[in-house]
Amino acid sequence: MKRYYITTPIYYVNDVPHIGHSYTTLAADTLARYKRLQGEKVFFLTGTDEHGQKIQKAAKSVNLTPQELADKVVSNFQRLWKKLGITNDFFVRTTDDYHVKCVQEAFEYIYKKGDIYKGEYEGWYCIPCESYYSEIEIGEEKLCPVCGRKLDLVKEESYFFKLSAYEDKLLKFYEENPDFVIPNTRFNEIKSFVKGGLKDLSITRTSFDWGIPVPFDDKHVIYVWFDALLNYVSAIGCRKGEFDEIWPADVHFVGKDILRFHAVYWPAFLMSLDLPLPKHVVAHGWWTVDGKKMSKSLGNVVDPNEMIEKYTRDAYRYFLLRNVPFGLDGDFSERELIERINSELVNDFGNLVNRSLTMIEKYLDGVVNMPITVEDDSLAKLGKSTYENVVKHMDIFRFDEALIDIFDYVRAVNKYITEKEPWALHKQKKSAELNEVLYNIFSALKFIAGVISPFLPDSSAKMLEMLGLNDIGSYNIEFFLDFYNVEQAKVEKKTILFERIEQRKEESKKKEKRISIDEFFNVELRVAKVLEAEDVEKSRKLIKLKIDIGEEKPRTLVAGLKEYYKPEELVGKLIVVVANLKPAKLMGIESNGMLLAAKDGENLSLLTVEKPVKPGAKIS
Ligand code: ME8
Ligand code: MG
Repeated sequence: MKRYYITTPIYYVNDVPHIGHSYTTLAADTLARYKRLQGEKVFFLTGTDEHGQKIQKAAKSVNLTPQELADKVVSNFQRLWKKLGITNDFFVRTTDDYHVKCVQEAFEYIYKKGDIYKGEYEGWYCIPCESYYSEIEIGEEKLCPVCGRKLDLVKEESYFFKLSAYEDKLLKFYEENPDFVIPNTRFNEIKSFVKGGLKDLSITRTSFDWGIPVPFDDKHVIYVWFDALLNYVSAIGCRKGEFDEIWPADVHFVGKDILRFHAVYWPAFLMSLDLPLPKHVVAHGWWTVDGKKMSKSLGNVVDPNEMIEKYTRDAYRYFLLRNVPFGLDGDFSERELIERINSELVNDFGNLVNRSLTMIEKYLDGVVNMPITVEDDSLAKLGKSTYENVVKHMDIFRFDEALIDIFDYVRAVNKYITEKEPWALHKQKKSAELNEVLYNIFSALKFIAGVISPFLPDSSAKMLEMLGLNDIGSYNIEFFLDFYNVEQAKVEKKTILFERIEQRKEESKKKEKRISIDEFFNVELRVAKVLEAEDVEKSRKLIKLKIDIGEEKPRTLVAGLKEYYKPEELVGKLIVVVANLKPAKLMGIESNGMLLAAKDGENLSLLTVEKPVKPGAKIS
């Protein structure tokens, strides 16, 4: 049986892992667990990318050899994956022997085939991205189009891969495999890149030595991306042994930053190697932190270890997968993480489990028995349709939507409890009915424990234990979907699933901050009439206004409205202005006052008055 093969990028060892890396790996882990739950045999690979100029440079700056640096950093990744509960079947390192050998064999294979030739490379190179760029891509300033940093001019002897020869073959392949790159918008970008014409790719370097030597020319080391991409085959035996049972990959998960390598270069290398191509390359978006790009210099890099310790790994997994539509960019904020824990994990999910187990213990001494006849199987039916939706969403890698499906079900079970009122049945001594209702709830919890296990493995395991069901590894989804297959179970409420988190004191204080009326009246708000308006030249944002604010002379005010209003739209409007603001100079123009506007992300709307009043009218 072909194994379902899932990969993550292999991460560079110049840096410690952060939420971005953990996101890709979590997505891959969740899919791996999900496929296993469905009874598939899975092979799940992750690892590290340890060669290249960037690693060599990083090692030098800390006085280590590149190998020493790699050995040190790799354990950070391995420890984190363990801590997060990542279930990879293997961990590949590009400095491992089997990998080095595989890369050299591949290089030779392609060389013998005639797809590699020797020449001279002259052009631009980004070391942080380990990537070549053409003149057209980099513009006047010679900055990296991906990371924005300065590029190096490279001129050296090099072996080239005949990428240009694969242009048509790639386009044909894309045509025949409309789901090759997901999401589709990114696939379109890839297609237009290839249609724009492919240049042959320099795949060796001579100006440094931290890389795999070209087998027949050891002046050259192999380009780190040629080396790195081959991890996906080297790790599974490089054509030997189990190889055919695992290759081709079903899903390569990547961030959008490295899609081109996986959707253009990689399939071209594979074609040249006469190997089948992967089924899907799934590219997700980019995480920022509190709205800002994560960077060491900003000091805002989020350490997953810290988040897991503070909030548990299930909560961390939930937040990352739930908070962004998979494929789009996302923003990490601890405040939002806490909000989701409290409202969804504690109130909806944890509370359901807690109250259900409490009732079973209280009304049935903790023992549920399969009812002889079932009057109401609505939760079973809803479970089936919920699972169908989960499958639909997982098929297109929408982890966020699958979680929404599951949590809708959680809320539906809460509603079922409210409607059936087991406490009333107990009081009325309707024991058959009570048993059926509680059994349905028990089965609903069993179903939730199963379907949620790929996402929240710890919570799932805790639930199964409390439900008196054993290790999840021995069941698959059929067991959880069938509501009436457990004859009897002894449940025991042992623990709660999630603890409520108090927002940090300072943060809630900030939110709660009230001001006195006097403080408010320190701000002098007045109505002003716009007399004239013109764009400030050379500014992308500013418009200069002349306003009548009930004083002898009109005032000048500069405001960032250009993206939202045309000057002529503004003339005649009655707007609201902070009249007692200290003057400020903007692009050399003195601005006296500040106008008020409402903003919701994309839209900006000026505040005006509802009925005409005289310019200068006071607002309170
Ligand atoms: O590119 N948001 O390794 P890398 C989302 N070694 N994902 C992010 C992220 C962010 N802010 N930052 C990093 C390399 N990632 C190569 C890969 S594969 C044959 C070789 C994730 O350490 C995302 O998956 O720079 C991205 O593609 C990857 O880390 C880049 O990791
Ligand atoms: Mg990177």
